[in-house]
Amino acid sequence: MDLSAFPYLQGNYAPVEEERDFGEGELRVEGRVPEQLVGAYMRDGANCAFQPNHYVYPLDGDGMIHSMYFDQGKVHYRNRWVETSHLKTERRFGRTIYGSVGKLLEVPQEVIDAGGEPNPVRNTANTNVLYHGGKLLAMWEGGFPHLLNNDLSTVGLYDYDGTLQAGDALTAHPKICPDSGQLISCTQRWDSPDYHVQIFDRNARHVRTIPVEFERKGIIHDLQITENYIIIFYAPAFHSLEKAMKGEDPFMWEAEKGTRIVAIPRDGSGDNLVFETEAFFSWHFCNGFESGGKIVLDYVWINSIPFTQAQGTGVEKQPRRMYRMTLDMKTRQVTNEQFSDVFCEFSRVDERRMGKDYRYGFAASSNVEWGDAHGYNCTGRYDFHSGETRLWDYGPEANAGEPVHVPNPDSEREEDGWVMCFVHNPGEGAFLSIVSAGDFDDGPVAKIHIPGRVPNGFHANWMQGLKF
Ligand SMILES: [Fe+2]
Repeated sequence: MDLSAFPYLQGNYAPVEEERDFGEGELRVEGRVPEQLVGAYMRDGANCAFQPNHYVYPLDGDGMIHSMYFDQGKVHYRNRWVETSHLKTERRFGRTIYGSVGKLLEVPQEVIDAGGEPNPVRNTANTNVLYHGGKLLAMWEGGFPHLLNNDLSTVGLYDYDGTLQAGDALTAHPKICPDSGQLISCTQRWDSPDYHVQIFDRNARHVRTIPVEFERKGIIHDLQITENYIIIFYAPAFHSLEKAMKGEDPFMWEAEKGTRIVAIPRDGSGDNLVFETEAFFSWHFCNGFESGGKIVLDYVWINSIPFTQAQGTGVEKQPRRMYRMTLDMKTRQVTNEQFSDVFCEFSRVDERRMGKDYRYGFAASSNVEWGDAHGYNCTGRYDFHSGETRLWDYGPEANAGEPVHVPNPDSEREEDGWVMCFVHNPGEGAFLSIVSAGDFDDGPVAKIHIPGRVPNGFHANWMQGLKF
């Protein structure tokens, strides 16, 4: 592949060409893997299988899952592509057929005639991987999720027993309520501006749909839950399918419209609470909760839309910071304050605190100037009790991915868990880092070195008890 035209396919953003397995004898463990860990750390990400004709970071690229399985001190690494119908069609023809979300291509008639995937919009399955209700799903916000087996082989598209209709796009950022076990998710459609909250029970059975009307389809990536509400940011960021088909820049940012915050009652009753503020964009919430008539939201703030059709413009390097927003449910007043001056993204929490008051957020963080293709060289811990940000620095050239909090099964305390992420450090190679959540000063308690590259990716989760 000639990837020279694409800044976000350079260095550790470049795809790997092989699917591999590394067991006990092949993985070098530095430190000690906690023996309480039984399950898997899995991370999704973009990994082009064929030469791309256009590439928008972080939206394009075939999904690949990298997994580290744990069983009482033993570890096993595996990576596999998600076998989507788009990827399978390209494998059949031995070349790239589909365009980019920033520049779509018409599907050749010969491909359609041969029974290839006719949808010009690639379901990348590259954004997130989640385990809920016994279902392991690779997710992408523009279509159905893909059901996977525990060994990462692909079963196929998953429609939640007929709940999802043709054209529905399920978010890649649902939240699991730690009390009810419910999955709080949503669907949007390419042909409608409306938003539908979708709630599934702990066994992944559909409970209810809550419609929310919008005058125009916005780019809504994440959602947050609190005890009684689902909260979304409706930023003035839009995508036009028509423009993408014509090759024009399909991404729009209309700052004068401001950003709307919508709080939707989780039980489906009562009116939505709507808050207005000046324009900002956000990919990710960290957490949110209700306290004394207010909704508190911690999230990563970005001043405007952080991607574009053109390559190498650097818009994705614009400042992004952890913010705390407070919404007064009575007066509708919004306060929005920067919590930390550290550059960060991919914010996470101890999932047992999801929607509840909590102490620690974790995020991929940076304390160096970025090169052409940026990375996050630190794992950051954001202490909402003390106000302190603590960084574990893997080195100036390192890339550290989304940090996932893995609870210690023997303790309720956030501090007693571990924070895991894949790291690539030139000279050191690829490893899975395990840091004690309560002790960021001493760095990883274990590094599991992988004798191959793990490219930078997107979202990860801990799959408690999952074995292959
Ligand atoms: Fe995301």
